[in-house]
Amino acid sequence: MATKSQFQAIRGTRDLLPPETALWNHAEKTAHEVFSTFGFGEIRPPIFEPTELFARAVGGDTDIVSKEMYSFEDKSGGVPDPSYMGPADYLDEIKRAMNSGQVPHDPSVITQLEFQLENYNMRSDAQRAHLIWMYFVRGLRLGDSVSLRPEATASVCRAYIEHNMQQQLQPVKLYYMGPMFRRERPQKGRYRQFYQIGAEVLGGGDAPAIDSEVIEMVMTFFDRLGLAGVELDINSIGHAADNCRRGYVEKLRVALQQVKDKLGADSQRRIESNPLRVLDSKLEHEQAIIEKLPRIADHLCDECKTHYAAVKRQLELRGVIFKENWRLVRGLDYYMRTTFEITAKGLGSQNAVCGGGRYDGLVELLGGPPTKGIGFAIGEDRLILSLQESGKGAATEGRDVYIAWMGERAYATAVRAAKNLRAAGFRVELPPTELKFGKGLERADKLGSRYALILGDNEVSEGSWTLKTLADGTQQKFTEPELLQFLKRPL
Ligand code: HAM
Repeated sequence: MATKSQFQAIRGTRDLLPPETALWNHAEKTAHEVFSTFGFGEIRPPIFEPTELFARAVGGDTDIVSKEMYSFEDKSGGVPDPSYMGPADYLDEIKRAMNSGQVPHDPSVITQLEFQLENYNMRSDAQRAHLIWMYFVRGLRLGDSVSLRPEATASVCRAYIEHNMQQQLQPVKLYYMGPMFRRERPQKGRYRQFYQIGAEVLGGGDAPAIDSEVIEMVMTFFDRLGLAGVELDINSIGHAADNCRRGYVEKLRVALQQVKDKLGADSQRRIESNPLRVLDSKLEHEQAIIEKLPRIADHLCDECKTHYAAVKRQLELRGVIFKENWRLVRGLDYYMRTTFEITAKGLGSQNAVCGGGRYDGLVELLGGPPTKGIGFAIGEDRLILSLQESGKGAATEGRDVYIAWMGERAYATAVRAAKNLRAAGFRVELPPTELKFGKGLERADKLGSRYALILGDNEVSEGSWTLKTLADGTQQKFTEPELLQFLKRPL
């Protein structure tokens, strides 16, 4: 039999459903609590931003920007919608936009538009405007290119600049949570819409204590949630100078050239484009080769070396256990000095549950004042997966009280009782239609209710209500005030 085609969530996206969402809420609530004890405030930046913001911050050559962004043209840009004006005025608008640099300056477009205007002179203004829209405007890229955010560090830096936050007491400590979008190949723990919980510290210097406190905060959060098998890797990738990372990258490139023939195609390509990323390779046969390559720790400048040593001392002081990993370079361009990644149990190949690092200079790159910065983002989907795998999944929340009512008078009382019990914080199920007591109690059981409150017309006229404890079947009689008192008693 032919079935109607059904809609399905787009590949790489999914619905989060109860009872799992209870675990998501628990994780988010814990983040609000823990981060606020470290003096962080919440920021909620928009979900889409100018494409250019991410291109500049994350880096045009990174996988994220070059392959994975959901970008689209936000139609009219600064040019009014052609349907609201005559074609001659519209032509003027396009010329103005071209002269002011809002859209690419291209005289041939104007010539063609003028030709079309002549050509379609017989038609109505609206038709001509529509034709212009159809044939030219779409191809002109008059609108601004915007992208769904693939990450939020760039947005937080943009907001820092836009709201002059450098004039506030420094550093400014912000955290965020919400969906991010990357067109990656979906697999376990990797989605196209995924969720991050992240934090950023902006301004106020680059004291190693800031790096270590940020790391301490995320480890405290994981600890509070009882995340299993947490491992923290740290590294310093120095700063972009000839006597530091730039010099190292050149040495690395030379060393890689010498072993080029033994490397896979991806790594061969990266020798030129981004040699540091070769260190990320998971290919079995490249591992022994990579182990022999020059290491960044031996090529850091004195300041970066001192900073890294102090970060490690500070982590020890805070009782944070870490492992040094010289191959940890991260996939976004803005990092310098401290980088870190955290893995957890039960995640398979996508086991990084958090990544972060220092990004001094990013705010300046985006047009703001020189500002130090460091932060991290937790992959919430992976966090939840790992918690579930280690048996920390949320159980379905049962009801505290199921109200089994029968009769019209009893119903009015049941509605009032439900209102009062809910106001006192109890989870209450009030069936919308009358059910026989037997059926009602069956439902109460299925819903995992602790008690059933039995309200028939008799109970209501006597003012004595029956409360049944479902676990052992015992029943007690209460007046309305007694019932509330009984339920509220400490267990
Ligand atoms: P990232 O390493 O690209 O860093 O992402 C951080 C975390 O987000 C990853 O460790 C992973 O848990 C999760 N994640 C990334 N992509 C996906 C995906 N497709 N599906 C599921 N989870 C994913 C950043 O985004 C930086 N903005 C972090 C940062 C903040 N650095 C400094 N401040």
